[in-house]
Amino acid sequence: MVKRYAVILAAGQGTRMKSKLYKVLHPVMGRPMVQHVIDQVKAVQLDDMVTIVGFGADKVVEKIGDASKFVVQEEQLGTGHAVQQAEEILNGKDGTTIVVCGDTPLITDETYQALFNHHEKEGAKATILTTEVLNPTGYGRVIRNESGEVERIVEHKDASVQELRVNEINTGTYCFDNKALFEALKEVSNDNAQGEYYLPDVIEILRNKREKVSAFLTPNFEETLGINDRVALAQAEQVMKKRINEKHMRNGVTIIDPDNTYIGPDVTIEQDVLIHPGTIINGESTIKTNAEIGPHTEISNCMIGEETVIKQSVANDSQIGDRVKIGPFAHIRPEASIGNEVKIGNFVEVKKSSLGDKSKVSHLSYIGDADVGSNVNIGCGTITVNYDGKNKFLTTIEDDAFIGCNSNLIAPVTVGKGSYVAAGSTITKNVPEDSLSVARARQTNKEGYASKIKNRK
Ligand code: UD1
Ligand code: CA
Repeated sequence: MVKRYAVILAAGQGTRMKSKLYKVLHPVMGRPMVQHVIDQVKAVQLDDMVTIVGFGADKVVEKIGDASKFVVQEEQLGTGHAVQQAEEILNGKDGTTIVVCGDTPLITDETYQALFNHHEKEGAKATILTTEVLNPTGYGRVIRNESGEVERIVEHKDASVQELRVNEINTGTYCFDNKALFEALKEVSNDNAQGEYYLPDVIEILRNKREKVSAFLTPNFEETLGINDRVALAQAEQVMKKRINEKHMRNGVTIIDPDNTYIGPDVTIEQDVLIHPGTIINGESTIKTNAEIGPHTEISNCMIGEETVIKQSVANDSQIGDRVKIGPFAHIRPEASIGNEVKIGNFVEVKKSSLGDKSKVSHLSYIGDADVGSNVNIGCGTITVNYDGKNKFLTTIEDDAFIGCNSNLIAPVTVGKGSYVAAGSTITKNVPEDSLSVARARQTNKEGYASKIKNRK
């Protein structure tokens, strides 16, 4: 087997993004674009991978972790100069090196594999991944001779009027014979419109040495989008979104309006889940079979059980059981743990709390830092008063308890098993089990008093 290496170019400033954030860290469907690139390249069997990062790219290194080796390109003198930085790791090695830009996150592992195969079958020293596009503006153009062989690549800014008309572009991805690559890079100059050392110049250098140069033209032009500005970033988001949604639909998920449904790359969705329009699901979320999500629902890092229905709501970093009903307009905040067959209705907020099976909080309540048992009924407008301005305290509501409407439970406090709290109570002391607690002023009726007030002068 021929050895295979990869060099990922990620040191560019990304000036056209007009951003403080490193270009390759801009997320596409919630994942940094360079991470998409690395994941797809990695799917091809590789012997070594080097990512070229810019000065101060600690955040890139942090994000990618040990998925790749790193070399710093202190000054961004061009893509050719960037590849040269990998020499200390790859120099003198026999094998094929794929070079990929960190700003082309849509290229798939199948395309990388096909490029490697084509390159090795042809026995070429260099193979460019090319494609034909309607609008080639900004891309390097592939210049072929009369016999159709690739001669060189000319950058948009260096191209003649005639060359600008060429629709075949350099995708920025190449396979090289590793030794030939580093030899040829020594000859690249920066005598061009941008004063940069261009990697694509290696093609002409190898041609002039009568080495075999090839092109692999992919029909999947959609994959090859290079992200240089935020217009392209939005286009990439569309393509990636469609790709992810189609994968789920093919796996048996119904998505009513795929154009308005955003599912992150790390989300797992089981068969027969139904997703309504305006839904966003991201992070490491799992949606179990027959659940129904949306419309207009945002879920992040949640486990959602079977047959659970969530409408017009927001849920983060939480566990939600089977056959739960949530919403409309509920907010499930981090560290909620919700049992099976629970009901959480409109304008209910749950934070860092557990609710046991079959408990109900149907309307207008705040449940924070609470440990709620099973089969508990929490009446409309109940508040767990968990915060005294400095510290947070726990409320415990044991199984089968019934909390009347508009009650305040001043934590730390426990309502015992099976007890009732009368509506309108402010509970400051523990309620023993099997009791009724009434903590409100007694009512007095002054008969005939209303007309007295009305008749006052
Ligand atoms: C490059 C190609 C162009 C191709 C296009 C495809 C060159 C000279 N041109 O143009 O032919 O059509 O990609 O998308 O290669 N980078 C570094 N160090 C540098 C400069 C760039 O690491 O000194 C990295 C960038 O982070 C980026 C990649 O190389 O990920 C490409 O650089 P960019 O400036 O985006 O090149 P393009 O102008 O898009
Ligand atoms: Ca680019």
